[in-house]
Amino acid sequence: MDFDISLNKIASQHARVLSGMRPTGQLHLGHYHGVLKNWVELQHEYRCFFFVADWHALTTHYDDPTGIPQSTHEMVIDWLAAGVNPNEATIFIQSRVPEHAELHLLLSMITPLGWLERVPSYKDQQEKLKERDLATYGFLGYPLLQSADILLYRSGLVPVGEDQVSHVELTREVARRFNHIYGRETDFAAKAEAAMRKMGKKNARLYQRYRNAWQEQGDDEALSAGRALLEGQQNITVADKDRLYGYLEGGGKVILPEPQPLLTKASKMPGLDGQKMSKSYGNTISLRADADELSKQLRTMPTDPARVRRTDPGDPAKCPVWQFHEVYSDESMRDWVQQGCKSASIGCVDCKQPVIDAVLEELRPMQERAREFEEQPDVVRNIINEGCETAREEARETMDIVRHVMSLEMI
Ligand code: TRP
Ligand code: SF4
Repeated sequence: MDFDISLNKIASQHARVLSGMRPTGQLHLGHYHGVLKNWVELQHEYRCFFFVADWHALTTHYDDPTGIPQSTHEMVIDWLAAGVNPNEATIFIQSRVPEHAELHLLLSMITPLGWLERVPSYKDQQEKLKERDLATYGFLGYPLLQSADILLYRSGLVPVGEDQVSHVELTREVARRFNHIYGRETDFAAKAEAAMRKMGKKNARLYQRYRNAWQEQGDDEALSAGRALLEGQQNITVADKDRLYGYLEGGGKVILPEPQPLLTKASKMPGLDGQKMSKSYGNTISLRADADELSKQLRTMPTDPARVRRTDPGDPAKCPVWQFHEVYSDESMRDWVQQGCKSASIGCVDCKQPVIDAVLEELRPMQERAREFEEQPDVVRNIINEGCETAREEARETMDIVRHVMSLEMI
């Protein structure tokens, strides 16, 4: 998989993955190639949390929420069908974990309005969705709610598309501010020094050396090495580790770790017209499209307009079918297409057949799984219920700490 940051820089305590999707109902091939395939791989390597962002749906579609439950159910079926495994990843629904709202509220206390107004998606979306009144409090808070989603699980990695990077960036700023305000224990340095000694003489000395190299010379590698050293420590408590991470970097105790976006390479999945596959372009192939429907959709796809007759040569570079070959075909097949198209020795119908076969083959196992879940809605509901329970336990742990540092407790 191609990620643009090196994972070994991230400490294991941060190696939790969290991502969410607004409930859009049944998903299409673009979702599969752009997002779900990644999730399925990530779940083997990290503790993963994947959730349905139903409150986020309300920020733009507050006037007609009736479709949300059905869309949620269908979308979770598609996640499961694509291979997201509830034994490996926690699947849950945002609104079923009210701690998201509590953390959102608490973070709102320390978030300057300007930070939210400057998030690029704020103005963009208002422009794009002109027919809706988005001059609401909830919509302005959209990215901060997302920050709460991420920080609630102390997630280190957030797989997102390009359009969401600014939201992760905001999350980092909010976390930094939070740690700065609430992470300063009165005797922080003394506690950190004590924690350091608990690692043993040799490690403590190494830690000191890395800390100095980072704080005095800005040596990035020393910072990474210091984090890696902490990551490997088994004999100190999580609280001590958090102190040592903060002390290493030069701040206070890290209460809410700063997440990194895990930028998945933009999916190359073209739509039926060669533009990016997207519901708003009406060019999608549903993950649950049946074989006939799908064959028909692909058979009637536009091709290079220069090939009016079968005998006219064409140019794959001008043809959406070629983009499908780039996703699905091996080199020899692609050579066959290039040669055959340019010399008019194959027809477009011939050219499309291997694509149809490949898409059908890719979807078959997913569709079989989807059918099983469609027939057993209770199984899906149970998976979600269990995921929500697990998520809540994690969320409660974070909120206990957050409430404590914000003095929200009885004397
Ligand atoms: N805003 C995201 C989107 O539109 C969905 C989302 C909500 C999300 N909360 C999140 C993604 C937290 C990653 C992490 O796609
Ligand atoms: Fe497109 Fe294939 Fe037809 Fe060439 S032969 S125009 S690549 S469908």
